[in-house]
Amino acid sequence: AELRRDEQPSGSVETGDGAASRGCGAAPAPGSKDKPSKKTFSEVQEERREQAQRSVLIHCPNTVSEKKFLKYLSQHGPIHTHFFYESFGFYAVVEFCQKDSVDSLLNRTQTPATGTEAAIPFRSRFLYLKPKGPSSHAAKQSLARSSNHLPPSKRKLFELLCSAESVDDQLNTLLKEFQLTEENTRLRYLTCSLIEDIAAAYFPECTIRPFGSSVNTFGKLGCDLDMFLDLDETRRLSTQKSRGNFLMEFQVKNVPSERIATQKILSVLGEFLDHVGPGCVGVQKILNARCPLVRFSHQASGFQCDLTTNNRIALKSSELLYIYGTLDTRVRALVCSVRCWARALSLTSSIPGAWITNFSLTMMVIFFLQQRSPPILPTLDTLRASADEEDKCIIEGNNCTLVRDLNKIKPSENTETLGKCFSLFPFQFKQTFLLFSLFYFLAELLLKEFFEYFGNFAFNKNSINIRQGREQNKPDSSPLHIQNPFETSLNVSKNVNQSQLQRFVDLARESAWFLQQEDGDRPSPSSRQPWGLAALLLQTVAPSKRVQKKLPSERIKSLLESVKSNSTQSSTNTSGKQALS
Ligand code: CTP
Ligand code: MG
Repeated sequence: AELRRDEQPSGSVETGDGAASRGCGAAPAPGSKDKPSKKTFSEVQEERREQAQRSVLIHCPNTVSEKKFLKYLSQHGPIHTHFFYESFGFYAVVEFCQKDSVDSLLNRTQTPATGTEAAIPFRSRFLYLKPKGPSSHAAKQSLARSSNHLPPSKRKLFELLCSAESVDDQLNTLLKEFQLTEENTRLRYLTCSLIEDIAAAYFPECTIRPFGSSVNTFGKLGCDLDMFLDLDETRRLSTQKSRGNFLMEFQVKNVPSERIATQKILSVLGEFLDHVGPGCVGVQKILNARCPLVRFSHQASGFQCDLTTNNRIALKSSELLYIYGTLDTRVRALVCSVRCWARALSLTSSIPGAWITNFSLTMMVIFFLQQRSPPILPTLDTLRASADEEDKCIIEGNNCTLVRDLNKIKPSENTETLGKCFSLFPFQFKQTFLLFSLFYFLAELLLKEFFEYFGNFAFNKNSINIRQGREQNKPDSSPLHIQNPFETSLNVSKNVNQSQLQRFVDLARESAWFLQQEDGDRPSPSSRQPWGLAALLLQTVAPSKRVQKKLPSERIKSLLESVKSNSTQSSTNTSGKQALS
């Protein structure tokens, strides 16, 4: 009864890098005006992976005394950090200072004695703590407390949003409440590391790498955990030159195509996870998809996992999004609010279908920010132009080169056109100028203009292309065309049908109009009336303020015209685009 889900983590998280309780990776804290992280994406990946390898996941009784628990585990070496959480049971993540301590602990861990049920023996870093007697139970005050891994309830969110100072403040509140916490990020990497231990039974040199929103800085609490099996180490050609007249090769099984190889690998892994993997339930093999995958639920962490193989390009897209998300916190605030908006209005769904996906929405936000004048985000071509020899990366024939060092990202060319004297200033000044221009655009204004921009986008003829940061003619007839950043012949939103796109456009227009009306329209705190994002997102909590009710669709077109004329002074890029017919 003492354990509360909404408490801050009890165990202080000593990351040693000052990243405690922040969002995923090394992204800066929301609202902070600090400089972008200096860490490259691969540095963050390596650091997190190494942390995970020094960690264990322990199912414990929720009556465990934190002090006794830590004392017991410290027999194996000093503990760097730990936290408890509730999923289907009560769990602890314990990160030792040294990897040797994990080995020592595993050497003293037993395989459970079989009782009425038979155990399939498997040794992993997912353990069970069994109390030896009643003395192991803690007194109320020394009970271990649980850290939160759930998004806020609608009620709590409603209260938080209503008590915010401004719509801008509401946007930052959304980000703060939904972004992945430090603990949740650790748990994601640890889960991949545990799955790697299972997969290593088949492929000893494999690596399981997380990608997608768990690592790209745009993750929300509760989002799925995308991971892929990396067999590059097994595939790698030996660098040792063999002497003599012969060349020795491993005998392998050959199959007709790469796709069939992927399906076979995932098929055996799916079976193994299902039959032997501790904590892996509901395993589904979805091998006929364009990108074959095994979907399962990791019960102990509570994550819905999607396991693929050979997905290096998707990892590169995650790196690209990480760069965009790390350049400025408002990018994440805007993406987060657009994702929450789409979810609240049922534009996105956890079930696959013809709806728009979070990945597509993120690409749309990035594209929109590239359209600002001066641009808030650089194009992918600009990121490529800043790359050096070491950054060069070709994956499956696709040029995936990106500048990895965030400090090398130059201000976009458009800022140079502000005046000749600007080009005389040193590089550092230009960077400062760019940052300044980012702060100039409040997230509130950006959200409204995002809705307005896409409410009027010529989806019928144009494609969204973040590589060039320009609209392009659609290469095919899909209703929504967003070019995949690295596999340029692919459309990220191929699944979206015309009616889902039309819903997106209608709701974007209505929301633009709604936010325009909300300007300076905050009711007094005592009225407790839903306003701003609370009214826009939480319609089920406050049905009286439903967007649709307040905004009859037939009025939208004419009202939008007035929104547009009002905002031409603040926006420089709403150049009469064709509305979707
Ligand atoms: N991806 C892609 N093309 C698609 C869909 C997905 O390249 N059409 C890649 C992207 O790198 C994406 C990752 O696969 O980030 C994971 O896909 P998904 O889980 O759908 O998106 P996330 O970005 O992880 O967002 P969410 O929080 O909804 O899971
Ligand atoms: Mg995902």
